[in-house]
Amino acid sequence: MAVTLKFLSEKTGLSITTVSLILNNKNVRVSEKKRELVLKLAKKYNYVPNFLAQGLVTKKTKTIGLIIPDITNIFFAEIAKNIEQKINSRGYSIFLCNTNDNLTDEIKYANLLLAKGVDALIVCPAIESKDNFEYINKFINAGKGVIVFDRYFEGNPCSLVISDNLKGSEEAVKYLIKKGHRKIGCITGPINSYSSRIRLEGYKRALIDEGLKVDKELIKIGNYQFHGGYQQGLDLLKKDITAVFVCNDLMAYGFYRAAKESGKKIPKDISVIGFDDLLFSGMLDVPLTSVSQNVDEISHNILMLLEEILEGSLEVKNIVLSTNISERQSVATI
Ligand code: RIB
Repeated sequence: MAVTLKFLSEKTGLSITTVSLILNNKNVRVSEKKRELVLKLAKKYNYVPNFLAQGLVTKKTKTIGLIIPDITNIFFAEIAKNIEQKINSRGYSIFLCNTNDNLTDEIKYANLLLAKGVDALIVCPAIESKDNFEYINKFINAGKGVIVFDRYFEGNPCSLVISDNLKGSEEAVKYLIKKGHRKIGCITGPINSYSSRIRLEGYKRALIDEGLKVDKELIKIGNYQFHGGYQQGLDLLKKDITAVFVCNDLMAYGFYRAAKESGKKIPKDISVIGFDDLLFSGMLDVPLTSVSQNVDEISHNILMLLEEILEGSLEVKNIVLSTNISERQSVATI
């Protein structure tokens, strides 16, 4: 009886993909014991590869899955554009999925992309959750590489490209302190988002390092959107502050509108520093000082890791990129 991949899969409890990858001597995350069992059974039952079936399992589709949390945010749009342009030149196509920072959609799209047979997955997670591991491990078990970018979560089992959010946010607040500000507010992103949580941590550390009190009344929970910066800005501007650290530029734009409606001049009455250093930040009437995440550098590192994955490497690499402050006109010295 000619045994099949399916037979060996049932005998070993491993997926057909994993069995095929073991028989093809590919890198796959499986115990040595299981690997030897597959090889032993294949020999015992005189398994002969069915090249058609094998092609179905290890066939490359020349497509890459890219999942981002907010397609309307130019930070993610620029990264998506950079990745698409580069992989198109390599003969690959991209499936772009937008989750609106929603974990359920993220998991739905990841499973859909796996079913479509993409050759690798690049994802910016919506929130920090162990639920991300399930779909990431499915990709890894299928012998497909995963690159997480921009946001991290404890125990992350795959490669990562991220900015040093803690240092970047600490430096932003210390920049305000060096300019003489002592009463500094903060508008965070979604608090269950890694980058937002770490930037708030950096805000607090900078104040404490400089001997200043952390006043919970001056911390407002935003959502990384224009409206979040506007709404929380109206509230924060009623407090006795001279400066604000806004955890992304889209919310800083909303804060600008709140300041205008509150009759406050930037930077005369209130100084503002953002995070992302988006394209538009230098074009505002009062150009925004912002912590720069180098989108080209982030894209370049994602593509470098993707190249290694497409060449067959499943080595996990964590790349942390430094930030710097793009100094403009939204912060006054007092
Ligand atoms: O602007 C959206 C934010 O979410 C960016 O700062 C990026 O780092 C992501 O975490």
